[in-house]
Amino acid sequence: MKKVLLIHGPNLNLTGQREPGIYGSNTLASINAEVVQKCERLGMECTVFQSNSEGALIDRIHAAREDCDAIIMNAGAYTHYSYAIRDAIAAVRLPCVEVHMSNVHAREEFRHKSVIGPVCAGVIAGFGKHSYLLAVDAVKSIIG
Ligand code: DQA
Repeated sequence: MKKVLLIHGPNLNLTGQREPGIYGSNTLASINAEVVQKCERLGMECTVFQSNSEGALIDRIHAAREDCDAIIMNAGAYTHYSYAIRDAIAAVRLPCVEVHMSNVHAREEFRHKSVIGPVCAGVIAGFGKHSYLLAVDAVKSIIG
């Protein structure tokens, strides 16, 4: 069975409480449950990881070399400036789908740039929790 790693970066643990007008009122646990269930329906196994620390996120991306076939990642604000996360994704050479719940292009200027985008297979942004669910379809189309 193909294995998917869902990674959430900083502040995403507060999803559901944090700026609900932007990120919605679903908790991260409920979104994760839907993603895991959808992966199972599509014949894939999903593991979830969240950290507020850049180093821990990088360590988990490195470990994915051993235990995953693809990554779905919402790197939160690190998306916009973490060259270290960008390099980690490039290093492991696993297909990665970049996800954002909000439409980052309709928000502040600093959110318009993604430094991880160029090393990802594609980007899904602006559909709330559905961004994650669409990313599952994207990953399925890549790894089968
Ligand atoms: C986010 C968008 C980022 O700009 C922000 O820093 C986040 C969440 C999103 O899911 O829309 O933490 O990645």
